Parts: sequence; structure tokens; C-alpha cells
Amino acid sequence: MEAQKEIVIEIKDLYKSFGQNRVLNGFNMTIYKGDSIVLLGKSGSGKSVMIKCLVGLMQPDSGSIKIMGDDPTKLSQKELNLLRSKIGFLFQGSALYDSMTVRENLEFPLRIHPELLAQKETRVKQALESVGLLDAIDLMPSELSGGMKRRIALARAIMLRPKIIIYDEPTTGLDPITSKEITLLIQRIQKEYDATSLIISHDIDFAKAIASRIIMLIDGINYASGTALELEKSTDPKIKAFFKQT
Ligand SMILES: Nc1ncnc2c1ncn2[C@@H]1O[C@H](COP(=O)(O)OP(=O)(O)O)[C@@H](O)[C@H]1O
Ligand SMILES: [Mg+2]
Repeated sequence: MEAQKEIVIEIKDLYKSFGQNRVLNGFNMTIYKGDSIVLLGKSGSGKSVMIKCLVGLMQPDSGSIKIMGDDPTKLSQKELNLLRSKIGFLFQGSALYDSMTVRENLEFPLRIHPELLAQKETRVKQALESVGLLDAIDLMPSELSGGMKRRIALARAIMLRPKIIIYDEPTTGLDPITSKEITLLIQRIQKEYDATSLIISHDIDFAKAIASRIIMLIDGINYASGTALELEKSTDPKIKAFFKQT
């Protein structure tokens, strides 16, 4: 018998509206350990809203959420902080602290983990090596190109060696070559850290390159999911619309 795959994220019947604007309309999603999921959806379809609910930054109207065994809607602030420190985030835009050096930006996630202080130097260097930017350790963010900033933000996201890494639009706003570099880097980190990845995107080529499975967020629900090959064969116009892009 095949071994049961471990579920790391499970969302059931998630609803979220803003006034008359119903954004999530009974969204469901199950993610297993080691998955590399691309959540594909048009701009404004609710991808960021879903992620915010998932990590407890936003309260859903109804539905259930389990992430690594926890329900973020029921946790105290302290418990939420602990949960979030087990998740690596690469938010839309790189969000580095402009007044801190690269090294200080990377040390930042360790501040609530005094037990890791002894490993500070090793961790910073290892994370920078993972993204190929060890030489940038003493630079300020203003001295970095857009692609380098994204890579440093990625290094910061892996400082605590997270079990889950969430990327919000990691290649948006980058030129095609830099975008390709970031794609390769995400693949490398997925392997190196044996992580489960949830990657938000509206870029179908990126999704094809990186996803073990694609989930399509359309009309507030998990409209379709499968490999790029499976979805590409669909005759549903809403699914086909994605594959006709570029
Ligand atoms: N805090 C908020 N208050 C009101 N409306 C919001 C809020 N956050 C998101 N929305 C609305 O929810 C919808 C989905 O937004 P979002 O999840 O950011 O889309 P995307 O798929 O591009 O990430 C949009 O119509 C947006 O205007
Ligand atoms: Mg978004």
C-alpha cells in the first residue's frame, strides 16, 4: 500500500467578502508535504486575500483552515508569531529594510529566536550562498539591483529553515532574464531545504516551469487543479484563457 502523504495545509469552504464584493466563495485546497503548488489567478481574484487568511493576517467570514496542524483563526498573537516563524515569506515587492545592511536584514528573523543566536553568522552565510550573493553581505539595499533585492529577500525567507515557503508573485515586475534566474533559484531552494512551496502567480510560463500541481483560483473557488499538462488539455474557456496568454 502506498504511504499516506502528509497534509501540511488544508482549507475547506473558505468565504471572504468586503461589503458586496465576495472574493472567496467556498474555496478549498489541500497541500501535501513536498508539493510545489502554483496558485494561478487573475489580478484581483483573491490570491493575496486567501494567503492572508491562511497565515492569520486576515479573518475569513467562514470556513476552516489547518496549517501544520494549527488553525490560525483560533490562535493567540503569540501562537501566531510562532506559527509564522515556521513559514518563509517572500512578499510582493521585496520589502527589505532600507536602513539595514544585507547582513542585518538577514539577521532580523532571528531576533525572536535567542536559541539560534550562536548560529547567526553561519546561517547568514549559508542563506546568502543559497542565493549566490555572499559578496553582497555588507551592502545596503540601495546598492542592489531589483533582481538582487529579490534574491536577498529570498535569503531572508529561508533564514529560519521554514517547512513551508510562500511566495507572492515572485517574478512580477522583473525582466525575463532575471525572472528566469529567480525561477531557477526557487527550484533550487525547494530541493535544498526540502520545503513545501505555495507560489502565487499569474504567469503561466512560470507555473509550467515550477509547479508540481497548479490550482486555479477563479470565481472565488478552486476552479480546477492538476499538472500544467492536464490543465492545458482542458476545453473549458476559463481555463483555456490562461494558456492563451503571452
Ligand atoms: N483589505 C481589503 N479591503 C477591501 N477590499 C479588499 C481588501 N483586500 C483585498 N480586497 C479586494 O479583494 C479582491 C482580491 O484582492 P487580492 O487578493 O489582493 O487579489 P490578487 O488575486 O490580485 O492577489 C480585490 O477586489 C480587492 O480589491
Ligand atoms: Mg496579490
